[in-house]
Amino acid sequence: MCGIVGYTGVQGAAPILLEGLRKLEYRGYDSAGIAVMYDCRILVSKVTGRIVNLCEKTQNGAAVPGTTGIGHTRWATHGAPTEKNAHPHLSNDGRFAVVHNGIIENYRALREELIGKGYVFESETDTEVIVHLMEMYYHGDVKEALIRTSDRLHGSYALGVICSEEPGKIYAVREASPLILGVGIQGNYFASDVTALVSHTRNVIYLDDGEFAELSENSVTVYDCLGKPLSKKIARINWDVQAAEKGGYEHFMLKEIMEQPGAVKATITPRIRDGRVHFEELQISDEELRQIRRIVITACGSAYYAGCSGKYVLEKLVRIPVDVELASELRYKDPLIDEHTLLIVISQSGETADTIAALKECQQRGAKALAIVNVVGSTIAQLADYTVYTWAGPEIAVATTKGFTTQLSVLYLLAVLFADRLGTCEESIPELVSALQKLPMYIQQAIDMNHRIPQLAEKYHGSRSLFFIGRNTDYAIALEGALKMKEISYLHAEAYAAGELKHGTIALIEDHQPVIALCCNPSVMEKTINNIIEVKARGAEVLALTFRNNQKIISAADDFLFIPNANPVFAAVIEIIPLQLLAYYTAKENKCDIDKPRNLAKSVTVE
Ligand code: AGP
Repeated sequence: MCGIVGYTGVQGAAPILLEGLRKLEYRGYDSAGIAVMYDCRILVSKVTGRIVNLCEKTQNGAAVPGTTGIGHTRWATHGAPTEKNAHPHLSNDGRFAVVHNGIIENYRALREELIGKGYVFESETDTEVIVHLMEMYYHGDVKEALIRTSDRLHGSYALGVICSEEPGKIYAVREASPLILGVGIQGNYFASDVTALVSHTRNVIYLDDGEFAELSENSVTVYDCLGKPLSKKIARINWDVQAAEKGGYEHFMLKEIMEQPGAVKATITPRIRDGRVHFEELQISDEELRQIRRIVITACGSAYYAGCSGKYVLEKLVRIPVDVELASELRYKDPLIDEHTLLIVISQSGETADTIAALKECQQRGAKALAIVNVVGSTIAQLADYTVYTWAGPEIAVATTKGFTTQLSVLYLLAVLFADRLGTCEESIPELVSALQKLPMYIQQAIDMNHRIPQLAEKYHGSRSLFFIGRNTDYAIALEGALKMKEISYLHAEAYAAGELKHGTIALIEDHQPVIALCCNPSVMEKTINNIIEVKARGAEVLALTFRNNQKIISAADDFLFIPNANPVFAAVIEIIPLQLLAYYTAKENKCDIDKPRNLAKSVTVE
């Protein structure tokens, strides 16, 4: 996600802003910028790429005088990583500069309104609507303009604002995106997280949603959303900087598991309007949709398993055959692909070599490619005919979690969109959309209801091998659950279609063999319970993953992981959550390098 910083005090602002942005680099970004007030003018410097480019451009801040300013690292969501799209953004009258972390969900309507009123947009970002609203609502009182601007915004935003009419002041606004104030001796600060503050001060004020603050050289005033001053406690930071980068979590992987409700919400919510799914960025006509005879999904690793899971929902709702192919296989198999094939390419990084090669191979054979990618402007995003972004924010841990659940969420959205457009769905579209909107809540509940996982991890962490079994959508999630376990805890784990056990693998089941049985698909629940009975009869210890209150299974298994009673069509994206946590705590028991597992890279850019 993006990062914002601000400073006002007795020192030069630019070097302090640059240092703060460097401390936020770990969050992932692709462009950066600062805006500093000098001689009642706002000086802006922006670059694409790394902070070092901004340091070179500003001679480490020496070339930008002034003691008041704001800064930003941008993780691109709306608009490619270009200098024009980089923050800070300036109002047309040059009076305001704004930096923003979050997503303005109603930015398209605001953009149209503002253009209609004569405001000129420089960028493709959602953020730019904010600075023009500030100009529109400013009549001499910045706080009033902030209140009226905030009233117009839907979505999440941590804002930093400066106004050339108020030298020496910076403003901070918080709504559903973290923002902290630093109370210092030589000035005052704001930042997206403590890492950018802690080298200057450990005295901080945590803004709450709906609050904003006015900071000057020697005062910090916090207001509620109506402009009423508030009395806020000053907290003392005792974290070390390294811990702070992980938001207080021990590992990035755990932080990213916990970020999933927000990541899935950020991916789903802006694409739902009036009870239906809308992908503005997907210009596929109904006629083109009707020409599709087959969908081929291709990816690697977890992205492939997201495809394996999404296949069931696409076929169920869209009634078009869906094949899921490993990219490393598809690229060399002389694939039967033609102009009636829709290729869906899934990749968190957008740089996976095998996936890129498979994409090119299929395009050469006439297929249109739709990419589901997390990194804006990545190679796959640029090569594809259509690109839909997951808005998971940067994923630092090598083992993907929020990347996977947001990929699967996009596949669900596409399934509902295509079914709606083609009229192939027996289920009610508004009901399916309502079920999609509940997923962030259910994912949070799945995190909260499985507090016994550390004990289960203690029980299983020394196992020689683990079996993950399931049928249909449960089987696809078993594949991903097994991969998570393998790649971070270094335990051998194998996912198996539960109905296949009796064709050989059940020979491996002996006393105390751990078997994790996924039972979250009502259409095959009875059959999987039979498989549980089969393996238990041969000595297995079964950990069942199922809906809360599933009485049928309580007597069949030894231990349980639960998910809330969500719509079974989309249960898979919730079902993976306890398995991510099980893998995480098992890896902790095994003292593995969880964020950087041995032999693995975050993006496999070679064959
Ligand atoms: C996921 O935990 C793995 N690190 C790996 O399988 C990953 O999903 C795979 O390499 C694909 O990466 P991509 O999504 O960036 O293309």
